[in-house]
Amino acid sequence: MPKVLIIGACGQIGSELTFKLKDIYGSENVVASDIGYNNLDVVNSGIFEIVDAQDYNSVKVCVDKHNIDTIYLMAAMLSATGEKYPMKAWNLNMDSLFHVLNLAKDGFIKRIFWPSSIAVFGPTTPKVLTPQHTIMEPSTVYGITKQVGERWCEYYHKKYGVDVRSLRYPGIISWKTMPGGGTTDYAVEIYHQALLDAHYDCFLSEETELPMMFMEDAIKATLDLMQAPSEALTVRSSYNLAAISFTPKEITEAIKKHIPNFDISYSPDFRQQIADSWPKSIDDSKAREDWNWHPDYDLKKMTSEMIEQLRKKYAKPVTE
Ligand code: SER
Repeated sequence: MPKVLIIGACGQIGSELTFKLKDIYGSENVVASDIGYNNLDVVNSGIFEIVDAQDYNSVKVCVDKHNIDTIYLMAAMLSATGEKYPMKAWNLNMDSLFHVLNLAKDGFIKRIFWPSSIAVFGPTTPKVLTPQHTIMEPSTVYGITKQVGERWCEYYHKKYGVDVRSLRYPGIISWKTMPGGGTTDYAVEIYHQALLDAHYDCFLSEETELPMMFMEDAIKATLDLMQAPSEALTVRSSYNLAAISFTPKEITEAIKKHIPNFDISYSPDFRQQIADSWPKSIDDSKAREDWNWHPDYDLKKMTSEMIEQLRKKYAKPVTE
C-alpha cells in the first residue's frame, strides 16, 4: 500500500484527488497538506499537515513523519495569476518541483505525480489536434514553468531513474472547489453564474475554443497513470491528455438546455491573449496507447452533472 502525500490538497484538483486517494488506499495512508487551512472539508477529512512546498525542509519533515513514498505535487500558481506575479509563479512552480524531484533522487520517496498543462504550448504550436511532440514556445510565465518542469522531469527520470509521471491537463471543470487564477476558469464560473444570476459576463470572446475536461475524467487519468506499470510509460516529460473542446458560445448553448433564460455577454480581458496562444484541441493518442486512456464525459453529460450538483449545493441553507 503506498503512503501518499498530496501537496496543495486544498485546491481545485488537490481536494478531489485527496478524497479519491483516501477511498482507494484508506484514510490512514493519505496525508493531505497545504500552505494553510484553506479547505475545511479537506482539513477535517483525516490527516492534514501544513507544508510549505517552497521549503525543502517543510516537505522533508512531513515525508519522514508519515513514511511517505508517493507525492502528488498539486501546488502551483496558474496562468492568469502568474502573469501578475511572474517571479512568484516561477519560484513557487520550480522550487516545489525541485524539492520533490530531489527527494526522489535521494531515495526518500519512490514516485511523483506532477501536473503539466496545455499552457506548455504557445502561438507557434499547431492549434488543432496538437501533437505530443511539437513546437513549444509558451508565452506565459506559467507555461514556461511547466515546459521547463517537463524537461527536468524527463532529465531526472533518465539520469537518476526517478519515477515521475505527468499529464498536460486541459482546463478542469468541477463543482466542489473553485479553480483559482487560471484562464480556463470561465468554464466553471459560467455554471455558477447561470444558476445564481442566469447571466454571465465572460472574460473570453465567444469563439475562443479551448481543450477542457470534467474533474471525474481528470482524476481517473491521474490515477490510471500513477497505477500503470513503469515499463508501459514511453513519455516521461508529460502526456497530452484530451476530452472535450468547446467555445464559450457552445457551453452557453449546452447550459441553455437546462436554464433556457440564461444569457451571456463578452468582455474579453488580458486572459484572451493567453487563451489565443493555446491549442484548440489535443492529440492524446500516446496516453491512449500507453495506458488505455479514454474520457467518459462530453459537454452534454458534464453540463447535466454540473447543473445537478450545483443546484443541490445552492439549495442548501448557508450555515456559516
Ligand atoms: N487551467 C490552467 C489555466 O488556465 C491551464 O492549465 O491556467
